[in-house]
Amino acid sequence: MQEMKTNIPQHVTVIMDGNGRWAKQRGQERLFGHKEGVESVRACTEFAVEKGIKYLSVFAFSEENWDRPVAEIEGLMQLMIKAITMETPTFQKIGVRFRVIGDFSRLSQKLRDEIDDCMKLTQENTNLQLIIFLSYSGKWDITQAANRFYASNKERIMAGEDVQMSAEDLSANLSTSDIPDPDLLIRTSGEQRISNYMLWQTAYTEYYFTQVLWPDFRKEEFQLALDAFSKRERRFGKV
Ligand code: FPP
Repeated sequence: MQEMKTNIPQHVTVIMDGNGRWAKQRGQERLFGHKEGVESVRACTEFAVEKGIKYLSVFAFSEENWDRPVAEIEGLMQLMIKAITMETPTFQKIGVRFRVIGDFSRLSQKLRDEIDDCMKLTQENTNLQLIIFLSYSGKWDITQAANRFYASNKERIMAGEDVQMSAEDLSANLSTSDIPDPDLLIRTSGEQRISNYMLWQTAYTEYYFTQVLWPDFRKEEFQLALDAFSKRERRFGKV
């Protein structure tokens, strides 16, 4: 039997939601859900490599998440340090380039060092880019892009030139400037909003929402999202 012809997205991004609820359903602490969530990231990373997806990005921690209880934040940061250390050999083995995007100023030195080491070590890998959005928000990204644009044009502005910023200028200054915009955005756990994620970059992204909680989102669920994507007709505003 011939396999259904599928249209594989180049960049899939995920708002991983529902770890806390998953843990609560089992009478456990929220961190238990985050730990299981890391397993889903691993499963989805392997699946993305198998499928030939070139970019998989995940929203791991938003700027707003800094308002969570200190113990949960601390636990999540420890979990990330551990996950990066544990997964680095696999990244090397299956050709994954690991990257982290966000406002690093609020991260611990230990986590920053861990991130830097893993990014450097894996930077030549070409099968898949796994991008973790950490301490990130869409409004932060757009604002810092505008500030960078004006900083790099300061002299012209000071000289009285009427400097206008184009959409291309803004895109070129975003933290994602060398990453194609997402083709598919998946959000788990039944929530249907963008939550200050990649606001600019998702202008033409297809959204896929599922009730499944993130710790239960593994290869089979990922395949369902890909199936839904390949049935969509993308027109980018044209007819
Ligand atoms: C959302 O569930 C999940 C998070 C805010 C954290 C997700 C982070 C990870 C799974 C760690 C990833 C680490 C690496 C290195 C990839 P929630 O806590 O908002 O759940 P709830 O909505 O049920 O409360």
